[in-house]
Amino acid sequence: MSDAVAVWAVVVAAGSGERLGAEHPKAFVRFGDDPLIAASVAALDDHPAIDGIVLVVPQGWEERATFMADDIGAGKASIAVAGGATRSDSVAAGVAEVPTDAAIILVHDAARPLVPADLIDRIIGGFADGADGVIPVLPIDDTVKRVDAAGRVIETLDRSELRAVQTPQAFLADVLRRAVAAADRSTGTDCASLVERAGGLVVTVAGDPRAIKITTRADLARAEELRAC
Ligand code: CTP
Ligand code: MG
Repeated sequence: MSDAVAVWAVVVAAGSGERLGAEHPKAFVRFGDDPLIAASVAALDDHPAIDGIVLVVPQGWEERATFMADDIGAGKASIAVAGGATRSDSVAAGVAEVPTDAAIILVHDAARPLVPADLIDRIIGGFADGADGVIPVLPIDDTVKRVDAAGRVIETLDRSELRAVQTPQAFLADVLRRAVAAADRSTGTDCASLVERAGGLVVTVAGDPRAIKITTRADLARAEELRAC
């Protein structure tokens, strides 16, 4: 993709963080000196290929989100909107705020505070011929089994074919807009699954072990450690 292409990022941060069990929504718990969301917003804001950032936050947190962006000097993050009931609803709310001249939209989980610049490079640079989306992945080290509702093993999957998926994920803007407009958004846990369902071609690039997702308190401590490395 050439430098002239407009690239926007949507940071989804509208979840409640039930599994973290904090007093605030997960994106606004303290991570170092700032709210968790600040770390990924700063990384995206610093990247020269990114032109603008939309923040999608819980209803009532929009103003705090724009103050946070001001506070950390993230001048590209000027838009904050309320998210929806599911992650996909929040993505749809964010994508609706991206200017129509954007050619590529990155979608990133605020729950992943560490976003190395070279990870963003790989994602934006990964649009090989015909790709509609580019996602960062890591190999899976554990053996993975499919089980039924009673916990009985149905099968052992071939680990060599499996990948763990991270964010940011990048998409051609028109493809993502069409995919999120599709009727049933309730079941997709990432954006790529919406694009796949709509028949789009999604390709993978190497993820980064530092780009962990914060789900529990232990993850927060681990991410603090990784940031210090
Ligand atoms: N997210 C969102 N809107 C929702 C649900 C999730 O914007 N309705 C965002 C979260 O803020 C997070 C990302 O999607 O950045 C990944 O979701 P997850 O890690 O599951 O966060 P939460 O839903 O907040 O956590 P939990 O499932 O423990 O409640
Ligand atoms: Mg969730």
